[in-house]
Amino acid sequence: MKILRKISETKRITSALILKKKTIGFVPTMGYLHEGHLSLVKAARKKADVVIVSIFVNPLQFAPNEDFTKYPRNFKKDEKLCRNEGVDYIFYPDIKEMYPDDYSTYVIVENVSLGLEGKIRPEHFRGVATIVLKLFNIVQCSFAVFGQKDAQQACVIKKMAEDLNVNTKIIISPTIREKDGLAMSSRNVYLNPEQREDAAYLYKALEYARRKLTLENYNRDIEFIRGQISKLIKSRKTATKIDYISFNNSRTLEEVKTLKNLKNTDILISLAVRFGKVRLIDNIVIKR
Ligand code: PAF
Repeated sequence: MKILRKISETKRITSALILKKKTIGFVPTMGYLHEGHLSLVKAARKKADVVIVSIFVNPLQFAPNEDFTKYPRNFKKDEKLCRNEGVDYIFYPDIKEMYPDDYSTYVIVENVSLGLEGKIRPEHFRGVATIVLKLFNIVQCSFAVFGQKDAQQACVIKKMAEDLNVNTKIIISPTIREKDGLAMSSRNVYLNPEQREDAAYLYKALEYARRKLTLENYNRDIEFIRGQISKLIKSRKTATKIDYISFNNSRTLEEVKTLKNLKNTDILISLAVRFGKVRLIDNIVIKR
C-alpha cells in the first residue's frame, strides 16, 4: 500500500492504471475510520482491481461554529486498517494541496442540498460536492462508494454526477450499526456512557416508524408517526434537542406530507438529534 500526498503523482498513477484498463474503486473519507468505512472499502475491494481511499478532513464542509480543528484524526490507525483491508493507495493530501491560496471554484447542487442537513448547515453540501468532484478528477475512479448513513450526501453526489456527466459510477452501501442499532459514526466517540445508551433509541424510533408504515399497512398518518418518534426520543434524558424528523422522497428529497397516492415512492425517514454537544443523524428507507 502506498501513501500519496501529491495530486500530480496520484494523477500520474491513476492515468497509468486506466491505460492498463484497471478498474479503480474509490472510497472518500475524512479518516478516523470505523467499521462503517471499512464496509465501504470491502464493497470497493470486491469489484475493483485497484482500491484507493482518500483521507482528507475537508475544511470547506465545516461551518465556523463546527470546529474543523477538533474533528477526530488518527492517521497511523487509519493506515493500519486500510492495509488490513487490502487498500492499494491512500490519497492523503494536505489542505494547501487541495485548496491553494488562490482557490475559487465551488460546486453547488441546488434543491437536494436545501432541506434537512442543508437547512441547519447551509454551506455544508457545497463543501462536500466541491471536494468530491475534485477527488473524482484526481483519482479518476471507475466507481466510488458512499454510505447510506449520510443519505442526503448520497443524493447530492448522485445528482451532481448525473447533472455534470461525471464518469464515476456512484454506489451507495448500507449503514453499519452497533449491536444495539446505533449507526456507526466518527462522532460516537464524543458520547458519554449515558448518551451512548440513549443514542440507540434513534434507530429504535426509526424501526418503530417502519413497523407502523409497513405492518399497519400505511394506515397511520405521518404527523402521528412523527409525534410517536419524537415522544420516544424525548423520553431519553440525554437527548437534548431534535433538529428534525423528516419524511422525504428518497430520490428527490421532496417532503412527503401524506401517505396517500404515494405509489412507487420509497420514503426516506431521517432524523437529527443532539445529545448535548454531539449531533447524530440516522435514517431508514421504506421501500414501496
Ligand atoms: O462522508 C464524508 O466523510 C465526507 O463528507 C466526504 C464524502 C469524504 C467528503 O469530504
